[in-house]
Amino acid sequence: MLQLEQVCKNFGGLPALSDVSCVVPRGQLTALIGPNGAGKSTLINCITGVLKPSSGEIHFLNNQITALPSYQITRLGIARTFQNLKLFPRLSVLDNVLTGLTCEGGSSMLMAMLRPPYLRHRERQLKLRAMEALDRFGLSDKADWPAGVLAYGDKKRVELARATVGRPQLILLDEPVAGLNAEETAAVAEQLRRLRRAGHTLLLVEHDMDLVMDIADRVVVLDSGKCIASGSPNEIRRNPLVLEAYLGRVEATA
Ligand SMILES: Nc1ncnc2c1ncn2[C@@H]1O[C@H](COP(=O)(O)OP(=O)(O)O)[C@@H](O)[C@H]1O
Ligand SMILES: [Mg+2]
Repeated sequence: MLQLEQVCKNFGGLPALSDVSCVVPRGQLTALIGPNGAGKSTLINCITGVLKPSSGEIHFLNNQITALPSYQITRLGIARTFQNLKLFPRLSVLDNVLTGLTCEGGSSMLMAMLRPPYLRHRERQLKLRAMEALDRFGLSDKADWPAGVLAYGDKKRVELARATVGRPQLILLDEPVAGLNAEETAAVAEQLRRLRRAGHTLLLVEHDMDLVMDIADRVVVLDSGKCIASGSPNEIRRNPLVLEAYLGRVEATA
């Protein structure tokens, strides 16, 4: 579904990604792992058009998306969450999730002001879908709360609801359980399994190795901006390069 070919990204001459080539197969949950600073978020930002790769190509469903702006990439069916939460704190939880459906609003400013009946009907439908998404993540009772007052775990779930409400073909999740407690992590893991079962394709950036080994179909390992391995969780667990580069260092810093 997604294919990266020799993607490079430099920041002021320093390489954050060097010749990264990898694939995200349709219908699978692919985990992207690697130590801090490996380039995982940079890769997600390049895929979603937040950053432009210095060189290389990114293909999504037969579209070359390398040079496209974010909104066009979203329209093609790629949604994401951010590592550092990006919610609108003063908007309600419901309105935050509705922003995940902006591609489908499609009305002009004039029509939005006149609000003809067909548009009101459309708005109601979109609200219904947003409410369903909130329900899936156990947030219905907080729909009217300003997003800014929510606890951290709830904010992470609002991001997940927003990323999935438009039923995107590919969902990119940048550390969705970072900072959550064990119970909240288990709940999110179950949500991810459900999305996977419902046929979504997921690319999950994650630090928690137990979680990755538990829910991923495939694992891609980045280290210092390079893709050093990819394969099934079991293959990755035994790969000496990965053990040295990733697990070794985690143990060293633990
Ligand atoms: N906007 C930026 N400007 C300069 N350097 C950056 C920027 N974003 C990331 N980097 C650098 O790129 C490298 C990879 O960062 P990042 O993609 O955030 O890693 P990860 O998500 O794997 O922890 C790091 O060395 C980081 O300091
Ligand atoms: Mg990151």
